[in-house]
Amino acid sequence: MSRLVVLSLLLAGCTSGKPSPDTGAPEGQAAAEIPLPTVWGPEALEDQDPSPGVVEVHLRAGVTDVEWVDDGPTEAWAFNDLVPGPLIQARVGDTLRIVFENDLPEETTIHWHGLRIDDEMDGVPAIQEPVQPGETFTYEFVVPDAGSYWYHPHVRAHEQMERGLHGTLIVHEAEPVAVPERYFVLDDVYMDGEDIVEPFGNHMEAVHGRHGNVLLTNGSTELLEDTVAPGTAERWRVVNTANARTMWVAVTGAAWRIIAVDGTLLPEPIEVERALLPVGQRLDLEVIPDEDSEAAGLQVELPGTSSWTEYPVFSAAIEGEPGDSSFIDWGAAPLPVIGDATQDIELNFNLRNNSQGLSWTINGDVYGEHDDIRVDANTPSIIEIVDRSGAEHPFHLHGQFFQVVDRDGVTYDQDVGLRDTVLVGPEETLRLYTEFDNPGRWMSHCHILEHAELGMMTEMLVRD
Ligand code: C2O
Ligand code: CU
Repeated sequence: MSRLVVLSLLLAGCTSGKPSPDTGAPEGQAAAEIPLPTVWGPEALEDQDPSPGVVEVHLRAGVTDVEWVDDGPTEAWAFNDLVPGPLIQARVGDTLRIVFENDLPEETTIHWHGLRIDDEMDGVPAIQEPVQPGETFTYEFVVPDAGSYWYHPHVRAHEQMERGLHGTLIVHEAEPVAVPERYFVLDDVYMDGEDIVEPFGNHMEAVHGRHGNVLLTNGSTELLEDTVAPGTAERWRVVNTANARTMWVAVTGAAWRIIAVDGTLLPEPIEVERALLPVGQRLDLEVIPDEDSEAAGLQVELPGTSSWTEYPVFSAAIEGEPGDSSFIDWGAAPLPVIGDATQDIELNFNLRNNSQGLSWTINGDVYGEHDDIRVDANTPSIIEIVDRSGAEHPFHLHGQFFQVVDRDGVTYDQDVGLRDTVLVGPEETLRLYTEFDNPGRWMSHCHILEHAELGMMTEMLVRD
C-alpha cells in the first residue's frame, strides 16, 4: 500500500558504494587503502578500475519507467535507470573517471555540483559542447575536497532534473570515521496522475519555480524503514534536489546536530530545532538514537501560514545493544580565516516583466546578454548579493567555496561553514567571502531551475 506524500503546491516560496569494500589492489599487492564505508541509500556504483587512487564508473542517461504512484508506471529520465541516480564514491585525492553515455532524446551534460575541479570538466555548456544523443563523453578529474556532493545535467536542467536526472557523490575523508552512513535524496515532483507535468505547466512556475505535489525520498513515495542502534552515532547526509522548493529537515527520536554543510565538516557542529535545506544544498547530520525511544526518523518540515507541517520520510526501529550516546569528534579542519577583502563583486537580483514574459536577472541582464564578471584569483573578496526581486533565491557558485559573512548585517549560526550554495531571502543583502582559489570560468546562478532557465545565471571569469 503506497503512502503517497501529497504536498501543497504553493506552500513554501510564497513566504516571500561500493556495497563491498574494494581494496583496489591486484593479487599479491598490499591493500593499502582503508575500505570505503558502505552507505545506506541510493545504490552504489562499483569501481571499474583496479588501480589504487583511481575510481572509474559508468553512467548512462536514458528514458526509463519508475513506480512512483499507484496509477501506473511513470516515464522518467534517469542515470542507469535509477532515480535518484547511483551513488558515486571516492576518497579525497582520488582521480575520478566517469564514462558517460547519453541515451536521451536530447543533448545533455553532467555537472558535479560543489566539486572544485577544472572548469573543463564542470559540465556546463558554456565550456563543454553538450553530449549529443547516442554519444559518450569521459569526465576525469581529481576530487580535492572530502564531502557530500551531487551531480546533474546543466542543459535544460529544469526539465532534465525534474524528470529524474540527478545522483549523489561522496568524497570520503582520507580516514573516515567508522559509523553507519546514509544518504537521503529529497525531491518533489509535479505530477498529474502517473505523468510528470511538462515544464512551466503551472502559471506560478515562472514566479516561484516548480513546486511538486509528490515528495520522493531516495526515489520512493513511501516511508523508508530500517533499524538503528540506541546511543550509537550515525552520519546522515541529506540533499535537496527539488527544482525550487526550500525544505527544512529534522530528526526525531534522537539527539542530532549539523556536522557538515555542503560537505565540509564544521569545526563546531550546530544544533537547531529544524535545519534549513534549500535546493542544491547538502547537510551532514550526526544522529544518536535515543535509548528510550522506539524509533528514530527523518522528516521534512514545511511552513504553512500558521504552523509547520511534518512529512516523515524515514523511520528506523531502535534496537540492539546501547552505545555510549556521545557525539563524535569528526576531526574538522578550522575554517579559513575571513580576511580583509581587496576585491568586491556585486550581484543584483531582480526580475523583468515585459512583452516577452517574466525573466529573472543578475545585474540587470538575463543569461546570454550578460557580461562576464572578471575577478582575480587568489584574492580576498567579498561578493555582495542584493535581492531586489522580492523572492528567495538559492545562490550557487561553481568551482569555489565561500563563507557567509552576514545577512543584512547580522550573522546567523546556520550560515556557518564553507559552502557552494546559500539561500538569499527576499530583499536580503548577503555578503559572502571567498578567495577564488580555483581559476576558470564559473557559472554563478540561482538554483531555482525555472529562475535559471528564465535568465538568472551569470559567469565569473577567475583569472590567475
Ligand atoms: Cu547544481 Cu549550476 O548547479
Ligand atoms: Cu531564483
